[in-house]
Amino acid sequence: MRWIDTLEAEAAEKLPEAVHRYFRQGSAGGVSAGEAVAAWSAYRFRPRVLTDVSTVTAATTVLGTSVDVPVLVAPSTMHRMADPDGEVAMASGVDAAKSIIGISSNAGTTFADLGATGVPWWLQIYIVRNRSVTERMVDAAVAGGAQAVVLTVDTPVVGRKEDTGETVWDLVQPGQLLANLPDGEWTDDDLAKADDLGPKAIGWLAERTGLPVVVKGVLRGDDAKRCADAGAAAVIVSNHGGRQLDGSVPTAQALPEVAEALAGTSTEVYVDGGIRRGEHILAALALGARAVFVGRPALWALTVGGSAGVTRLITDLGSELEHCLRLIGCPRADDLTPDLVTKRLTD
Ligand code: FNR
Repeated sequence: MRWIDTLEAEAAEKLPEAVHRYFRQGSAGGVSAGEAVAAWSAYRFRPRVLTDVSTVTAATTVLGTSVDVPVLVAPSTMHRMADPDGEVAMASGVDAAKSIIGISSNAGTTFADLGATGVPWWLQIYIVRNRSVTERMVDAAVAGGAQAVVLTVDTPVVGRKEDTGETVWDLVQPGQLLANLPDGEWTDDDLAKADDLGPKAIGWLAERTGLPVVVKGVLRGDDAKRCADAGAAAVIVSNHGGRQLDGSVPTAQALPEVAEALAGTSTEVYVDGGIRRGEHILAALALGARAVFVGRPALWALTVGGSAGVTRLITDLGSELEHCLRLIGCPRADDLTPDLVTKRLTD
């Protein structure tokens, strides 16, 4: 069995049941969370033969920064429940694989502590109703050395999780969540997600931070175009790991439409959701993504192997991608093209 496929079961042994469920679950009926992986596996390849694949490379750049592997780590919460060193362990593991991490605005580590490690990181932000909360947070992230801001736009309200019994919220300890928002200063209403955002939020964030803005949670070509027109440096095709509107299209299905809408622009396209194998990354890059993000696999790897586990996850996925590049007859990940992929016959 592949090491990556052993991770979730091993993590489940180590984590409280409610935490394992929180990491794994989708919203509502779990349709989108349940079909994400299979949607990638539905693509079929049209490999080229008789090409020189003696040297292959998965390396690329994201927003101008070099990465050894086009596999970044998606923002997620509760890292301290997976490893006592939380986000610092996760970020250090990603850095050792020469990739980049998105740090959740709900993180259990202060941006100053993260910045002190010197590893590269991108801030993920939700804009909340009290804009001064968001302002304070992005200012602290800039001071902590964030290199980009990922604005999550698929969460005008938080997706409903159908939990019964003990939940992660019963177990969370002070400091494990929202370390960048000191308690007692804000009301729940201040912290509720802003549900009246428009594309102007992109320019506002870019101006406030001086950083490239990456819009996360785009599933349609027309929305991708609106983001690009409003100044987005990149979009992430994402349905939030199936944790927002259940039944949202799989990202494997949405990616070609978004890539087509942004063809010929300088706005980069990334994708997340259900990416678990080299073949999934191969399909994503061929269909127009510059890089992919992984969410849950990184949480399992952090739980099982700490920082070194996260490094191994990314390097293993990179090795699988290089193997696939050889088999498909394309030496450079950056040179993959849509003609190398088709839908399976039964679609
Ligand atoms: C998330 N995700 C997420 N996204 C975001 O923008 N801000 C956040 O705080 C979180 N928190 C979060 C917690 C947990 C436990 C999970 C599993 C996910 C979504 C995440 O960034 C990403 O979109 C998905 O996880 C990608 O799907 P896979 O790789 O988990 O299938």
